Amino acid sequence: MNIITLGDKSFSLFIDDQKINKAVQKVANEINDTLAGKNLIFLSVLNGSFMFTADLVRLIKGNPELSFIKTASYEGLIGSEKVNQLIGLNNELRHRNVVILEDIVDTGNTLDAVYKLVQQQQPASIKVAALFYKPLAYKKEINIDYVGLEIENDFIVGYGLDYNGLGRNLKHIYKIADK
Ligand code: IMP
Ligand code: MG
Repeated sequence: MNIITLGDKSFSLFIDDQKINKAVQKVANEINDTLAGKNLIFLSVLNGSFMFTADLVRLIKGNPELSFIKTASYEGLIGSEKVNQLIGLNNELRHRNVVILEDIVDTGNTLDAVYKLVQQQQPASIKVAALFYKPLAYKKEINIDYVGLEIENDFIVGYGLDYNGLGRNLKHIYKIADK
């Protein structure tokens, strides 16, 4: 099926599973080549990264640890300032080599929040791996060390990524059809 419907929107096939697998393999190879011998801890940012994470970690050499995290924001004590918090993190990151796993980096706001919270725990190093990256939308300074595929500013679904909760189970990536 080249055209699918999720809720009120249509999506067309954009990146098939073979091309996704190659992108995941590329990220894994780069991590294996550059971070060999480090006792890595992967931090997978839920929900979207679950499928990327499952496929990626099976290609990683050595004995990495893996945690799944989410960000939660609550109103701070001063006015209505938003304060971010990482939930699900039960590993000590101090002096560890951390690799943040993101399904997609768009504006970079999510990554920026996660990165700052990780940094507070004083790890030895922090690397960032993103399966998909939208360079034209990115507004932050943090270097994305490992990128599977760069894409344009189209909204995509599948392989963990959702539209209003739908489409995460799809094995291919679809992009929104012309509005
Ligand atoms: P950012 O904070 O703008 O970089 O966006 C990050 C989050 O927004 C991702 O982790 C996704 O959950 C979601 N997101 C961004 N672009 C897309 C997309 O094209 N499809 C589905 N979700 C997206
Ligand atoms: Mg995400």
